[in-house]
Amino acid sequence: MSIPSSLSRRHFLVVAGGALAAASLLRPLRAVEPDRPLARLVPAPARVQLVPEPYARTSVWAFNGGAPGPELRLRQGERLDMIVENRLPQPTTVHWHGIRLPNEMDGVSGLTQAPIEPAESFRYSFECPDAGTFWYHPHHRSFEQIGRGLYGPLIVEEKDPLPVDRDLVWVLDDWRLNRQAQILDDFGAFHDIGHAGRLGNSVTLNGMSPDRYPVRRGERLRLRLINAANARIFGLTFTGHRPLVIAWDGHPVFPQPLDDDRVVLGPGMRADIILDMGGRPGDLHPVTDDFYPQQQYRLLSLAYEKDELRAEPLRDLPRLPANPVPQPDLERAARHDLVFGGGMMSGLDAANVEGRRLSMRALMEKGLAWTVNGRAMADHHRHHGEPLLDLTLGESYILRLTNDTSWPHPIHMHGHVFRVISRDGRPEKRAIWQDTVLMMPREVVEVAFVADNPGIWMLHCHILEHQLGGMGGVFRVG
Ligand code: C2O
Ligand code: CU
Repeated sequence: MSIPSSLSRRHFLVVAGGALAAASLLRPLRAVEPDRPLARLVPAPARVQLVPEPYARTSVWAFNGGAPGPELRLRQGERLDMIVENRLPQPTTVHWHGIRLPNEMDGVSGLTQAPIEPAESFRYSFECPDAGTFWYHPHHRSFEQIGRGLYGPLIVEEKDPLPVDRDLVWVLDDWRLNRQAQILDDFGAFHDIGHAGRLGNSVTLNGMSPDRYPVRRGERLRLRLINAANARIFGLTFTGHRPLVIAWDGHPVFPQPLDDDRVVLGPGMRADIILDMGGRPGDLHPVTDDFYPQQQYRLLSLAYEKDELRAEPLRDLPRLPANPVPQPDLERAARHDLVFGGGMMSGLDAANVEGRRLSMRALMEKGLAWTVNGRAMADHHRHHGEPLLDLTLGESYILRLTNDTSWPHPIHMHGHVFRVISRDGRPEKRAIWQDTVLMMPREVVEVAFVADNPGIWMLHCHILEHQLGGMGGVFRVG
């Protein structure tokens, strides 16, 4: 087995397909009880076995020694109270992606708080109003810190959890490793900024490269999928199975089969799916990812054990209770446009940076390649620029997001959750609430929400190299 240092179709992900020992079967994530006051989250250098032996362990940055970090699990409405103690060689913060929390707890370096300097600590304390699958990660040099392994799942359980046989978290990541299984440190390379972001060559599930995932006939799984990759979009097919999405980004959706039965997740996004195991004992069913047509691979195989749990899978449709998200008034909502531009192959010739008009060449010299409404957000952990939008507290808004580029972008909004109301002019009839929406090239997506959380909040592409390259900004609610 060899690990390619650059992507090629033939070598892609050879590491995930090899013959593995039982030791590489998934072990559960360790859970920390965040509800107990002053639990600690410690980001620090660590070594983890991302790819199986005989490869060496990989030097990463990790929360509490693991990449992913500990699974934080609490009940809806409970308070998360944690000290983050920075043992990294650079400043950091923690952002609680998707949680509707007070602005000063949002963890955006240089905007909602000063970064936590090395050897210093910061206390985060907030209630979690919504049940669902969320995650945490730094919001300071995210392209490097998340890329080195700093992230973890944050699970907020419903007051009455859904009856399932197993409730599992799958955190997906994509690493750019060399032949010694060490991280290539070309973070923020301009080629990645201007194109699809930092795509890697080794995909991990909960920080491992499992070959098989043991399941039993008749079992009902709730799989909480989290895309923690810098740039890779996943398009997962569970061969022989029909996943039912019951929540996007933590928020319940009426369960319906998906187009092509494929779960598409951009960076930052989550999906909760119900998988009913209808296979036969001894069956092997590959789970494949074919989002990028030239780079299909098998993530792992669902491996049916010899004994069954039930003769027939369950048939009833599980329904999650709605979260207490305010409903926007679509009749009276004010409308705003956000146009996302730039990238290679786009014809971007100039953009505004901190109020100055810069040519394409000057932008590139600053490492910028992307814009929102003609502006590139420079040096995002020091200057966030004038707000793109100034919103009135309590009012409803419809944002028309236009992807004026040749690339997909997962657009993430802080402090709020929005409802997707149309795509390319086609109304979305289902109530789909998200904090991160994947826009395909040239797509126009309308979202609606109530600006009910005061503060200055970020909105940006969650392909972290696009964020670094200018694709973001802030909006003010007050
Ligand atoms: Cu998941 Cu602004 O971040
Ligand atoms: Cu993007």
